[in-house]
Amino acid sequence: MNYWRKVALLPCFYLVSVLAQAESIASYPADWRSWPVVGESMVPGKDVVLPEDTPLFIQQAVAAYNWINDGKGTKLTTYVHPDKLKQYASHGPYDDGVTVVGVYETPGVVFVTEHLAGEAIYGTYDTEGKDISSQHPTFEPEYCARCHTAYQDICINGTCSVPVIELFKDN
Ligand code: HEC
Repeated sequence: MNYWRKVALLPCFYLVSVLAQAESIASYPADWRSWPVVGESMVPGKDVVLPEDTPLFIQQAVAAYNWINDGKGTKLTTYVHPDKLKQYASHGPYDDGVTVVGVYETPGVVFVTEHLAGEAIYGTYDTEGKDISSQHPTFEPEYCARCHTAYQDICINGTCSVPVIELFKDN
């Protein structure tokens, strides 16, 4: 599809993903395993009580995804596209293309953030590259976008990293 046409149609992609069967909008980068790792974090298990001073934003992110791996918690590793390390460090502005993936180790879920004309777009895949965004409401691109744009002091240009694991370090 013509570039500007794709940009112009972005709102429609979201609408379709809300109204119909969800589909990832960001594409799957097959070579993410060879990208630099910029963060290792975790989603605590369902029954882990977060420290009291945990920011609301983090609490919500944990609550949204702590059902993964049957609520037992899982490691989360963040890989950045080799050409975008500098952009990631400054939270953008980002060039077009896939920017960063967050991988839930068990059972293997790949969250993808791509940029298109400065806008962040999202996708959810398994580790084989199969689109699984319709498997759970919290995997739908529109759901990702809602949280990633709600907290603009933390999520700048669609990237959010504040490692959850840091919160446990002093305790
Ligand atoms: C309720 C809030 C929330 C929702 C919903 C959410 N995220 Fe995030 N996202 C976060 C937070 C918080 C982090 C930082 C986590 C960390 O570093 O420990 C993050 C980090 C990421 C990262 C790592 C790169 C970075 O710094 O942003 C990617 C990639 C990502 N999210 C993609 C997605 C995708 C794809 C979806 C939907 C399937 C999604 N997110 C849904 C809050 C959310």
